[in-house]
Amino acid sequence: MKITWHGHAFIEIQVDGKQILIDPFITGNPFTKTKPEDFNPDYILLTHSHHDHVGDTEELAKKSGATIVTEMDMANDYAQKGFKVEGPNYGGTVHFDWGDVKIIPAWHTTANVPLGMATGLALKIEGKLIYIAGDTGLFSDMKLVGRKQQIDLAFLPIGDYYTMGPDDAAYAASLIDAKKVIPYHFNTFPPIKQDVNDFWKDVPENMKFTTEIDKPFEL
Ligand code: NI
Ligand code: MN
Repeated sequence: MKITWHGHAFIEIQVDGKQILIDPFITGNPFTKTKPEDFNPDYILLTHSHHDHVGDTEELAKKSGATIVTEMDMANDYAQKGFKVEGPNYGGTVHFDWGDVKIIPAWHTTANVPLGMATGLALKIEGKLIYIAGDTGLFSDMKLVGRKQQIDLAFLPIGDYYTMGPDDAAYAASLIDAKKVIPYHFNTFPPIKQDVNDFWKDVPENMKFTTEIDKPFEL
């Protein structure tokens, strides 16, 4: 599979000819050079309802007919608007021909419409386990994500203010014992400005993974 980080919390996965977008915050995202019209998603996975995660979801899903996959209450809201949805709740997994999406807890709030709860995502694609922490503070249960299989790649927020900061996120990296970690959700807005080295300095050397924004890599 090919994975692309488009800055902030926007991630693209290409597998089996399918395009999967996670938290497609494109309009207003200061990092990505992509535009909504560059995408034709088959699935859109959302961690929660804040605008910097929902982003261009409705416009994209209307255009492509993508299935929106997110926590149950938020999914129901989209279903009422006529979108195709899958909405498991915490601990539940939905199986697709390209992989599995498990909705897992994250400690964060939601106050917009649609409502729903904040989540992380555990993806199992081509046998690889990917943990997308979403917006969250540090909590010890995140180590359960890799309970049966070591996490191959984890995206961890390091921005502080709305989520974990670099210190807690580096602790989280060790706690979850992922093979590789990518720091995300930082530098987008003034309150989450961070020096990424404040994260890397406390992360085990073998876990470090860097990628350029908008540049696909193989996993
Ligand atoms: Ni948020
Ligand atoms: Mn956010």
